[in-house]
Amino acid sequence: MIQVKDLCKSFKKVDAVKKISFNVEKGVVFGLLGENGAGKTTTLRVLATMLKPTGGTANINGVDLVEDPEGVRSQIGILFGGDTGLYDRLTARENIEYFGLLNGMDKDEISNRIKELSDMLDMNEYIERRVGKFSKGMKQKVSIARSIVHDPDVMLFDEPTSGLDVTSIRVVQDFITRLKNQGKTIIFSSHSMNEVEKLCDKVGIIHKGEVIEISTIKELREKYEDMELEDIFVKLVGGHND
Ligand SMILES: Nc1ncnc2c1ncn2[C@@H]1O[C@H](COP(=O)(O)OP(=O)(O)O)[C@@H](O)[C@H]1O
Ligand SMILES: [Mg+2]
Repeated sequence: MIQVKDLCKSFKKVDAVKKISFNVEKGVVFGLLGENGAGKTTTLRVLATMLKPTGGTANINGVDLVEDPEGVRSQIGILFGGDTGLYDRLTARENIEYFGLLNGMDKDEISNRIKELSDMLDMNEYIERRVGKFSKGMKQKVSIARSIVHDPDVMLFDEPTSGLDVTSIRVVQDFITRLKNQGKTIIFSSHSMNEVEKLCDKVGIIHKGEVIEISTIKELREKYEDMELEDIFVKLVGGHND
């Protein structure tokens, strides 16, 4: 479903992503795990066509990232942590609707979909309210709904739980599990091995712009039988610090 091939992204002075390659099969949740500054956000922004790669490419659901970024755009849903980019003066519904229109959906289609998403995420109570005064958790739900309004096959999540309270973290994690059960393909970044373990089938550890390990959680456990996963992460990253 996703093939990343020798992908590079350099900024003026920084080689943020250095020739990384990995594959994610359909229906798999792939965790991109790394410390701050490892290159997770840059990788995801390139895959999301928000940044142009400086080398290599990726194929997403049969569409080449470099040749047809627009085509890739229609295959993917994006949910990035930090600033949600919602319009405070619009209602939850209007925020979601706007994204639907951008994705070429018609009004009826959008309206049906919003009904479904609002039920699913338990947003009916505030769907007609302006998002300006919403809590972080409520905003995150609107962002989630917005990111999947067009029902994409591939989802890219950049640290979607960072900065959220426990309840909101659970909402996001349940949502990822639900997408997985629907057969969606997901790349999800995190700096927490525990979170990755909970949600992912396969993990890629990224460090200083390079992928230093790709395995299933099961393989990691077998290889380092007595160790906690969090310790495995620290060990692998530590081994590449010279
Ligand atoms: N727009 C940018 N301009 C210059 N350097 C950047 C830019 N974005 C990220 N970087 C650098 O690229 C590296 C990887 O950053 P990032 O992808 O944000 O890592 P992560 O998401 O894993 O914390 C860091 O050294 C960061 O400072
Ligand atoms: Mg980041």
